[in-house]
Amino acid sequence: MTPTLWDVEVPPTAPALDLRLEEIQKQDAALKMQFGSRLQDDPALSRAIVSYGASKAEPKCRWFKFREAFSLALVRSRLITLGARGHVLDPFAGSGTTLFAASEMGWDATGIEVLPVGRFLVRGRQTAESLAPTEFERLRFWRDEKPWNTTKLRAELGEMRITEGAYPPDTKCAIENYLGALVGESERVAFVLQMALVCVLEAISYTRKDGQYLRWDVRSGRRQGTRPFNKGAILPFDRALEEKLDQMLCDCNADGSAQISLLAPESAGQTCAKGDIELLAGSCLDLLPCLESNSFDALITSPPYCNRYDYTRTYALELALLGVSGVELIALRQEMLSCTVENRAKDLLDLNAAWSAALQAVEECKLLQTILVYLDEERAAGRLNNSGIARMVRGYFTEMACVIAECGRVLKPDAPLWMVNDNVRYAGASISVDLILSFIAEKLGFEVDEIAVLPGGKGNSSQQMGVHGREPLRKCVYVWRKQ
Ligand SMILES: C[S@@+](CC[C@H](N)C(=O)[O-])C[C@H]1O[C@@H](n2cnc3c(N)ncnc32)[C@H](O)[C@@H]1O
Repeated sequence: MTPTLWDVEVPPTAPALDLRLEEIQKQDAALKMQFGSRLQDDPALSRAIVSYGASKAEPKCRWFKFREAFSLALVRSRLITLGARGHVLDPFAGSGTTLFAASEMGWDATGIEVLPVGRFLVRGRQTAESLAPTEFERLRFWRDEKPWNTTKLRAELGEMRITEGAYPPDTKCAIENYLGALVGESERVAFVLQMALVCVLEAISYTRKDGQYLRWDVRSGRRQGTRPFNKGAILPFDRALEEKLDQMLCDCNADGSAQISLLAPESAGQTCAKGDIELLAGSCLDLLPCLESNSFDALITSPPYCNRYDYTRTYALELALLGVSGVELIALRQEMLSCTVENRAKDLLDLNAAWSAALQAVEECKLLQTILVYLDEERAAGRLNNSGIARMVRGYFTEMACVIAECGRVLKPDAPLWMVNDNVRYAGASISVDLILSFIAEKLGFEVDEIAVLPGGKGNSSQQMGVHGREPLRKCVYVWRKQ
């Protein structure tokens, strides 16, 4: 067999391995063997299809750049393999890609999302799609007449410490006038207009979303890091809003022409009634246990990765506009799946006594336990670049085990689950998230059909590469099936 990228040895220039890392590698190799040919490169997968990339030009998806999204094409291509329509679940719904793609194919879809931004985007899109001609007329009026420039009303922009000074002063003033002018509109029109504003916040601000945090442009006057950052053009408020409203009107075909078909190419030509979309607000750890057993025909999802990305920081501007306070933001961070160094351990058995099997599966994963011991030792020796990493990794896998147990419970027998996720690396230890979660899934009643690997590995952080050498990290779509 020709070796794949994943079999390639770490280059000889890499520093000598410590014995504990060698042990992790050994156990990793053993687990990889266990999955055998089910772990395989899938040339049909591309980075674009498992990310926002393939949807970024799609009508309606292009309104807001939800960087952590996957594409409509991914969802369509999976559901189409199932033939008959049914009910799909996404416990980490984000901006609603699964929900919208499924609904357009006639599937009913239920999503769970803890972050108010994601839920706002889903509701905003649903509202925009259902506006009446007279309501679209109001959007056109706002686009053309820009009533925020003449209003006497003004509403204060919600701010938190981490968003203070995010906009040039005249832009902040325009935002407050815009919010003030919304008062005269009907609830539905105001909601869609507010959505247009949310969709341009990053472009009109001094900030750029950057995974773990918000990057601040040097023009903001905020000091950040050692190298000054310049994000390039910052859009003037009027232009940004005019363009966004125009885009929204165009994508909703508000000029009265036939609706743009968003159906999968495979279904083009066929008409199908849209499926219902249900969106549940809160953490899936709280809400999955409330769903009926054996009730879903498929599950497509992408949880946060174990990569320290902090959604509450990157979406702070949008959250502040939606009225989330600094204190609420901290509570929200804790409620989310543990993937930041600030997350504290959740008392999972207190949440649900039925999760003891999930916690047992975590204990039984030798590879994971070895990694956790290693990270604990590195933390104790002060060698982790953040002492919260060990706790985050432990929290991530224990919480994911509980989510997987619940997904198994709510799926019908034989129903498939697709999950997009990335492997990670800390303190030189590559963490095969794909193998570990698949091991846990097997213990919890799933069959692992396939771990489909994206061609080309993902790089490591420059810190990891500098100290430990480069090792490609797999990005995968897991294909599990409820036994
Ligand atoms: C990778 S994104 C999903 C993106 C989605 N597939 C899309 O296309 O927009 C992960 C999502 O999980 C959400 N999330 C994190 N913890 C959660 C929890 N405990 N319950 C529900 N949603 C959660 C995050 O807010 C984020 O929107």
